[in-house]
Amino acid sequence: MGPRAKALRTVGRSLPPPPVQRASSEINRSPVGEKRNITENPGNSLSRTQTPMTAQQNLPADRLPELLRGMPKAELHIHIEGSLEPELIFQMAQRNGLTLPYASVDDLRRAYAFTNLQSFLDIYYAGASVLQTEQDFYDMAWAYLERARADHVVHAEIFFDPQTHTARGVSMQTVIQGLHRACEAARSALGVQARLILCFLRHLSEQDAFETLEQALPYRDQFIGVGLDSSELGHPPEKFAKVFARCRELGLRLVAHAGEEGPPAYVWSALDVLHVERIDHGVQSVKDPELMKRLARDRIPLTVCPLSNLKLCVFPRLADHNLRQLLDAGLAATVNSDDPAYFGGYMNANFTETFAATGLTAAHAYQLARNSFEASFVDAAAKAAYIERLDAFFATFQ
Ligand code: HPA
Ligand code: ZN
Repeated sequence: MGPRAKALRTVGRSLPPPPVQRASSEINRSPVGEKRNITENPGNSLSRTQTPMTAQQNLPADRLPELLRGMPKAELHIHIEGSLEPELIFQMAQRNGLTLPYASVDDLRRAYAFTNLQSFLDIYYAGASVLQTEQDFYDMAWAYLERARADHVVHAEIFFDPQTHTARGVSMQTVIQGLHRACEAARSALGVQARLILCFLRHLSEQDAFETLEQALPYRDQFIGVGLDSSELGHPPEKFAKVFARCRELGLRLVAHAGEEGPPAYVWSALDVLHVERIDHGVQSVKDPELMKRLARDRIPLTVCPLSNLKLCVFPRLADHNLRQLLDAGLAATVNSDDPAYFGGYMNANFTETFAATGLTAAHAYQLARNSFEASFVDAAAKAAYIERLDAFFATFQ
């Protein structure tokens, strides 16, 4: 047995981690690998105790990308309209008899130079306007799900923005059925479990959100929850208090974008007014130590999207991203792609580029993948099965 194979045999819940052999600046100071008791959060089924991750701690740096790419993972923050690649935008425009204000795919791609969230949203909504038929929604979701499988995403909770489509005269049925059919097909054909989360556009009124909810309720069994997205600044979560209360009564799972560009106050109100179970982005939370304590104490997952944050200038460089800080503070952070067709990469690109830029380790990889399953909206048995699969991957990776 070679030295690496021997190190791999050290995986196991009861064994202590192997001695750290790297320079002190490289030592993983995160809570990863420590046993920690987590205060239980009602409505949030994250485990109370984190299992130590002892395998792969001595993994050579050049093997880390392969580990990141191959590990099973869940994606919890992906806007399906943000997975629409320029090639597909052009194809759909052509088959639907629409003319785009761009001469070519390359011309469109050149427009993907964003300065903030709003500069992106303007182009994102324009791109989504080519979606007209149920088949268009199916094809868009299928293309994403194939990419997900290639990146070893085994479970995806997918956002969609119905108001972007119903406002153009596309029916709720067309949107939901096209997406849902693709999710169903992915389960058997790709081995990817996919669920839908309906997002309300926060730049529109709460009344509009209520009308959207009404239109979607005939398809209640085809989506698992609701979220809140679009222009954050000036549209705090509390604007949607009543509609989220109604969704809560209906038994829908609740998430909201907060603290992407907006202040920590928006994260507080997403938690305390909307009662969301996860925060999408949440990277601005580091500005408020009390909020950080609350997020850590209640193990509120943050669905962090590093390449999105880079492209929307939330951080000047990927090396400046605060993912490590979030993990070190004991937060249940996860890695996600947000709008991969616009931000330069799907899940594995987010993992490999962020790890390369920030020096995160194999232990962080394990923790992030584990967090993704623990933060997912599946039952306890399915969570345990996903984590077992993750553990088996780390135990046998060589
Ligand atoms: N933030 C807010 N709204 C969005 C995003 C985002 O990152 N992507 C698509 N809609
Ligand atoms: Zn998002």
